Amino acid sequence: MVALSTQFASARLRVAAAGSQRQHARGLTVQCVAAPEQVTTRVQRNKNMAKLQAGYLFPEIARRRKAHQEKHPDAKIISLGIGDTTEPIPPFIVDAMKKSSEGLGTLEGYSGYGAEQGTPALREAICKRLYEKVGRKPNEIFVSDGSKCDIGRLQLMFGADVTVALQDPAYPVYVDSSVIMGMTGGHNGTGFDNIQYMVCRPENDFFPDLSKAPRTDIIFFCSPNNPTGAAATREQLTELVAFAKKNGSIIVYDAAYALYISDPNCPKTIYEIPGAEEVAIETCSFSKYAGFTGVRLGWTVVPEQLRYADGFQVINDFNRIMTTVFNGASNVAQAGGLACLQDDGWKQMLDLVAFYKENAAILRKTFQDMGFTVYGGENAPYVWVGFPGQKSWDVFAEILEKCNIVTTPGSGFGPAGEGFVRASAFGHRENVLEAVERFKAVYGNK
Ligand SMILES: Cc1ncc(COP(=O)(O)O)c(C=O)c1O
Repeated sequence: MVALSTQFASARLRVAAAGSQRQHARGLTVQCVAAPEQVTTRVQRNKNMAKLQAGYLFPEIARRRKAHQEKHPDAKIISLGIGDTTEPIPPFIVDAMKKSSEGLGTLEGYSGYGAEQGTPALREAICKRLYEKVGRKPNEIFVSDGSKCDIGRLQLMFGADVTVALQDPAYPVYVDSSVIMGMTGGHNGTGFDNIQYMVCRPENDFFPDLSKAPRTDIIFFCSPNNPTGAAATREQLTELVAFAKKNGSIIVYDAAYALYISDPNCPKTIYEIPGAEEVAIETCSFSKYAGFTGVRLGWTVVPEQLRYADGFQVINDFNRIMTTVFNGASNVAQAGGLACLQDDGWKQMLDLVAFYKENAAILRKTFQDMGFTVYGGENAPYVWVGFPGQKSWDVFAEILEKCNIVTTPGSGFGPAGEGFVRASAFGHRENVLEAVERFKAVYGNK
């Protein structure tokens, strides 16, 4: 703490000194005043926060990208890194949001706080379009500001005393939110103690060997998976549900990319598997469907049949969480979400998904043609490229240095991601095509 305070104090002195020099240059005379000692509070840092590893993956990538840009100011960097969307929101959906926001400027159209669970119209529309046929009901659907936020709120609901398993590699939020909640031990150099990493690699068709997996309370499972792009088949999900039932576990099923699935043998919701309603929560999002990464809208399904060990319905606790730490999704965003589910919006949204899927196909083919082993990209917007024997961060650095392209190092998604990089298909088409040319120029003769 002393070192930190001294650092701050000297930084402030430097600023004060720089200021005084500039003013001297203009012929003014100023006094250089020493900054007071940095004050610290008496609050102890949350010991779980201190367990987290060197920054969240994407800020670290952003830091490296920035450093590269500073070193090469003229480089036109293309990002196939973070999974952020780039195409405009389809017009039918934008129009609905325009009308909604204009309405807010009128007496008749104004609305304030809405139901914390979402508007009844949107909950019904999500249910009708995606879940009615698999037995879910509108009251089981909780509209939110996105899946990432819901994962955090689910963790808050479960509390620190549950045990956790997750796919390895996986979306980093499952691990980091478990660490923050205190469900884990410290980092052991490879992963966190007390988390069950279920290895998903080409050798096991990216589906964990459940015969060897220990029981945990919670199982995070994402299909199509970010980052590998693997979509679980009906047989695999049937096995997962049976495993959860046998062990009395709850699956948190992340379906954020479900609409990217084209394979009819890969379910678009876990509730296609009979009995899943007794063991699974599903979270999903408009982010990657309609370009809502900035608008913020998603939902989580908690079936009435899902119960804790004492028979208490999980839905009641989730309702309590949502009404306590959330105040409802933006009314404008919800108007957009409703438009996504109407026929015109639905069609435009599927066209957008198809566009990104074409990008994925272009990237997939490029790497395949160059002789790389490639996974994903068929039922998912992510292409998972193997660089056997190499460290993912080294490959990331090499691609950035030689191609001016940002990818995502596989190891950032978990130990089993080592030796892979993820290429995201969410770029503009011209950038994807330009990236392809750059990859070919550097790796074409692999
Ligand atoms: C697997 C997965 N789940 C959830 C999210 C977050 O979605 P949202 O934008 O709804 O918070 C992402 C975003 O990249 C993701 O990859």
